[in-house]
Amino acid sequence: MYDVLVIGSANADLTVRVSRRPAPGETVPGTDLTESAGGKGANQAAAAARLGARTALLARVGDDAYGRLLLDAQRAAGTELRHVLVEPGARTGTAMIVVGPDGDNTIVVSPGANARLSPADVAAAREAVAGSAVVSLQWEVPPETVRAAARAAHEAGSRVVLNPSPVPRELDPELLAAADPLVVNEHEARQLAQASGGTPAQWAHALRERGARSVVVTLGPEGALVLGAEDAEPVAVPGIEVTAVDTTGAGDAFTGALAARLAAGDDVAEAARFAVRVGAASVTKPGAQPSYPTAAELQRAPGRGR
Ligand code: RIB
Ligand code: NA
Repeated sequence: MYDVLVIGSANADLTVRVSRRPAPGETVPGTDLTESAGGKGANQAAAAARLGARTALLARVGDDAYGRLLLDAQRAAGTELRHVLVEPGARTGTAMIVVGPDGDNTIVVSPGANARLSPADVAAAREAVAGSAVVSLQWEVPPETVRAAARAAHEAGSRVVLNPSPVPRELDPELLAAADPLVVNEHEARQLAQASGGTPAQWAHALRERGARSVVVTLGPEGALVLGAEDAEPVAVPGIEVTAVDTTGAGDAFTGALAARLAAGDDVAEAARFAVRVGAASVTKPGAQPSYPTAAELQRAPGRGR
């Protein structure tokens, strides 16, 4: 049915750039406000769809201008929209984003309609879950919905990509056991491995010992570390040097691209090598979804031929 079904959040990203961050109680001027399509789930779907994967998104938005912005962006990316539920009277999720001079960001999310995505919504999309090669999940919708989705996908034999972001305190064993791979950044890896020190390689091992089938630790500009199901040691995927303009949604670009390549039959390390290029391309342009490359654009981006 689909290569990739993403189940998760959709947010309008309200972004202002600043030359320095305000201290508590301080006011600093920023640039003009931009409103663009974001949300970790919608971002992953847009990334996969723009690269040519047959992609669907199961999400909830409100019947407001931001909901329309998000639907338009998914339509333009080529995502199947029949599972995006428009909820009368609800507000679309919103992210308030401040981008600093180095392209780094801080984000506050108001969940809005994302909080209403339910296990019943997952059950209603049962056929799509079972008919998709990869089901990709994040942590911006209610945990019981993520759990229901992971269970349904796992039982149906669909591959689960799990990116627990924003990171919960812990992940229960059933969720970890469904993840193939678990995709985490360094902060998330350390938190979920319940380690105070250590290295990304140690956290990857710890997370696999706790039950994840495979683990990908993203390292920002340094690339990623991949511990496949059978690997004795993690494989390092080098980063690609780019000038960062805006890192918002780079992890989602990575994960969406990873899901697309896994659906196409790559192993996790091959898929991560490709996904690093997509993540790097995304940080060279402002915004999350507006910065995601098509396959043709990726050919012209830094790191080609890797
Ligand atoms: O991961 C980046 C995303 O986080 C943004 O698009 C914002 O909407 C928040 O969900
Ligand atoms: Na970007």
